[in-house]
Parts: sequence; structure tokens; C-alpha cells
Amino acid sequence: MHDDLLKILLTKEQIQKRVAELGAEISQDYVGKDLVAVCILKGAMHFMADLTREIPIPLTIDFMAISSYGAGTKSSGVVRIIQDLDASISHRHVLIVEDIVDSGLTLKYLMDNLESRRPASLKIATLLDKPARRAVNVTTDYNGFSIPDEFVVGYGLDYNEKYRNLPFIGVLKPEIYTK
Ligand code: IMP
Ligand code: MG
Repeated sequence: MHDDLLKILLTKEQIQKRVAELGAEISQDYVGKDLVAVCILKGAMHFMADLTREIPIPLTIDFMAISSYGAGTKSSGVVRIIQDLDASISHRHVLIVEDIVDSGLTLKYLMDNLESRRPASLKIATLLDKPARRAVNVTTDYNGFSIPDEFVVGYGLDYNEKYRNLPFIGVLKPEIYTK
């Protein structure tokens, strides 16, 4: 395990198993629909790569890069679009693929933004959910794991852009972000 971690919260195997379940569920729900999976960069990169490989039905993928944090551990609510989608989502079935829903501010902003482009439907798949920290009302449609209020890293999730490459999800030692 990495020295900066308090403990491992979700192993690679646990993540793989759950992602496969989500993929099966999503595949059933979107049969015959024009599905576009939208990866929210950078945090959802591994989730997106693994999830889409568990969805055998036709789909297209697109990416959106946003920033809501700066270097801290709390969402500011101010979301910046760093890179927008390539293709139009008008009349298409859009599935947002997110790493984690914390306060919900980022997702709320994203939902409003994408909804205004008139998709046929708009749903959310998130790997992690921290329900205790929700500040605005957003409901996720596919949720990998509900986790306690601890700052986690790995499998795409970062602190100060580090730890995204860990193949598991771990709880970061508080002294790393309080020093
Ligand atoms: P929200 O706007 O507060 O819901 O924050 C959502 C974003 O904050 C996520 O997409 C993550 O990038 C980041 N985030 C929230 N909690 C964590 C965490 O525990 N570890 C790493 N990033 C997090
Ligand atoms: Mg993120």
C-alpha cells in the first residue's frame, strides 16, 4: 500500500466486480437507444474505460474536462469547462460518467448545462457517492458504492493531481492535506 494512505477502501477486485454489474444494468436499460457515454475528466478516466468495456451494446464516447476544486479538498461550486464535448447530444441518450458525487455542486452544474442542449434523456453513472456531504439535490441513476465522508484517492481520483494511477481506492491520510 502507498505510504500516504490510511487504508484501502475498495480493492481492484471489488471495483471490477461492481463495474461489471453496473455495465450489465446499463446495457439492459439502453438497448435500441442512441447512447453517448460522457466521461468527466480527469477523475472518471479509469471508471469510463472499464465501464464501457462492460457495455456490449453500441455506443459512442465523448469527453468533457471540468475543474471545480483548485488544490483543496472541497468543491467551490464554481465549475469551469476546460474542454467541451466534440459532438452534439441533441436528441441522444446521454449518460454522464463521473468519479464521485460529493456536495453535488459539480453535477448540478453539469446537468443544467447538458440539459439545455436538449438530449433525449440525461442520466448519471457515478462510481462513488458521499451522501453525507450532499448540499444540493441531485440523484444518481447508477451508483457504484456509497462511501463515508473521507477523502479518497486512486482509480482516477486525485489530491493535487496525484494518486490517480493507483489501481484501488484508498483513504488519504488527513496530514497530507492539512499540512
Ligand atoms: P462536488 O461538486 O462537491 O460533488 O465534487 C465533485 C468532484 O470533487 C468530483 O468529481 C471529484 O473530482 C472531487 N472530489 C470530491 N470528493 C473527492 C474525494 O474524496 N477524493 C477526490 N476527489 C473528490
Ligand atoms: Mg473530478
